[in-house]
Amino acid sequence: MKIAPSILSADFGNLAEDVKAVCDAGADLIHVDVMDGHFVPNMTMGPMIVKAVAKAATKPLDIHFMVEDIPFFIDLYKDLKPEFISFHIEEEKHINRVIQKIRNEGIRPAVVLNPATPVSLLEYIVADVDMVLLMSVNPGFGGQKFIPSVLDKTKELRELAEKKNPSLLIEIDGGVNDKNAPLLKEAGADILVAGSYVFGSDDYSKVINSLRV
Ligand code: DX5
Ligand code: ZN
Repeated sequence: MKIAPSILSADFGNLAEDVKAVCDAGADLIHVDVMDGHFVPNMTMGPMIVKAVAKAATKPLDIHFMVEDIPFFIDLYKDLKPEFISFHIEEEKHINRVIQKIRNEGIRPAVVLNPATPVSLLEYIVADVDMVLLMSVNPGFGGQKFIPSVLDKTKELRELAEKKNPSLLIEIDGGVNDKNAPLLKEAGADILVAGSYVFGSDDYSKVINSLRV
């Protein structure tokens, strides 16, 4: 299991130090939540802040866009060379075109599903992405309660991936902690995002290890 701490719950007054600390504590990826105040009712980090995060990080970035004009945001952040860019399919009419735009930049494309969005919508795109991110809270804020129906959804997605894209990575984001991590692993998850659970602790390596089930 790979662990991607979400810096949404980091101390923004000491962001570089917090990013370095979770990298040193064993994070595999740094999860960066970009919100535009339209797709979700919150705003977070512009490209200048994420550039500072990229400079401090010794692990690759995993950028999660919760935004409306996805191609515009790809152009703003592409030079930071994240490992992944993920975008919500609820927002995009031309999903294949956006996947290709991300891949053309040498970045691994991923799509995101809100808790109520069915896995069946992925049938004809799952083979074209490197990762699917399943939200286990409604996006916009850290510290929300895990929605357990994502467990069945993860199993359903793993079955679809076995048929159409066996190397697909499944990432889960929202309310992840040491209680649900084993259930998520059993359901077929590969990467767990955790914000408040990691940054709410004073021992980052202990909490990261507790998720590595
Ligand atoms: C929510 C974000 C998450 C958030 C998770 O919209 O996508 O990445 O930071 O935070 P926790 O782990 O506290 O639910
Ligand atoms: Zn996220």
